[in-house]
Amino acid sequence: MAKIRVGVVGCGAIGSEICQAIDTDEVNGHELDLGMELKVLIDNHPERIERLCKSLRKKPDITKSDSTGLDEILEEVDLVIECASQAAVREFIIPTLKKGKEVMILSVGALLCDPGLLEEIERISKDKGCKVYIPSGAVAGIDGLKSGAVGGIQSVELTTRKPPRGFEGNAYVQKQGIDLSSITNEKTLFVGSAKEAVTHFPENINVAASLSIAGIGSEATKVRIIADPATKENVHEIEARGEFGALFVRVENVPSIANPKTSYLAALSAIATLKRISHPIQVGT
Ligand SMILES: NC(=O)c1ccc[n+]([C@@H]2O[C@H](COP(=O)([O-])OP(=O)(O)OC[C@H]3O[C@@H](n4cnc5c(N)ncnc54)[C@H](O)[C@@H]3O)[C@@H](O)[C@H]2O)c1
Repeated sequence: MAKIRVGVVGCGAIGSEICQAIDTDEVNGHELDLGMELKVLIDNHPERIERLCKSLRKKPDITKSDSTGLDEILEEVDLVIECASQAAVREFIIPTLKKGKEVMILSVGALLCDPGLLEEIERISKDKGCKVYIPSGAVAGIDGLKSGAVGGIQSVELTTRKPPRGFEGNAYVQKQGIDLSSITNEKTLFVGSAKEAVTHFPENINVAASLSIAGIGSEATKVRIIADPATKENVHEIEARGEFGALFVRVENVPSIANPKTSYLAALSAIATLKRISHPIQVGT
């Protein structure tokens, strides 16, 4: 069978894990059997492409630092993975879908922050008959939420708990006059809708966006953000209630070594989605 030809936009923490998984067809000694080949790498920092290429057995045919000539490049791929930034979603995903190619989006926060983008992506992918894959990222429980949403969900609440230094430089926290260095017990920094959370806590938006899209939307999804000096990990707890009953999921995320803001699970969930694309048996909703 012909290999699925992949283009990756973003050679940072997540992009590097994805490319190495495609290149070696394994993660930590666990075989993947993806049947994919890396054809294109794009990053607006060329030195990051170079560094990543050095770690790969088979170098991609095409490397680029911007989207010029994208139309021709897209001839060479079957799937484009965006793991770069919110801006890259509109810049690369829309042209890829228009070309009739499939896509995976990691910067899922863009789908809440960029007005009309989610609807545009949905319309083009329907027209072209292409799939848009959004991995679960740094959270678990998306499967139960999707199932529950079919029968009706009354509430979805996300509680995110991080060490106080995880909020350093956050403008909303500064405006509230909160001194992060003086926090000795857990302190709630924010309670509100996912839609509001996106504005005040951009570093938390991907998780809030995935849950909103899978469940009951960004206005009805409630978010609580806590600075907790007792935790080392980024902890996400999801509580949902609906016709099915209730679910409670807690993930204690180990940060990625390359980018501490990103959880290792986010990269693994992208690789697991690649397995989903290439394997005949699909387990989970
Ligand atoms: N879905 C989730 O749960 C989840 C979890 C963690 C991170 N993310 C998101 O995934 C994305 C990647 O995360 P990361 O930790 O790998 O980030 P990173 O900063 O380590 O790497 C991103 C790379 O993309 C490149 N880049 C950014 N914008 C670009 C553009 N417009 N064109 C070309 N290259 C561009 C940067 O130069 C960088 O090398 C981020 O947007 C992040 O918010 C999602």
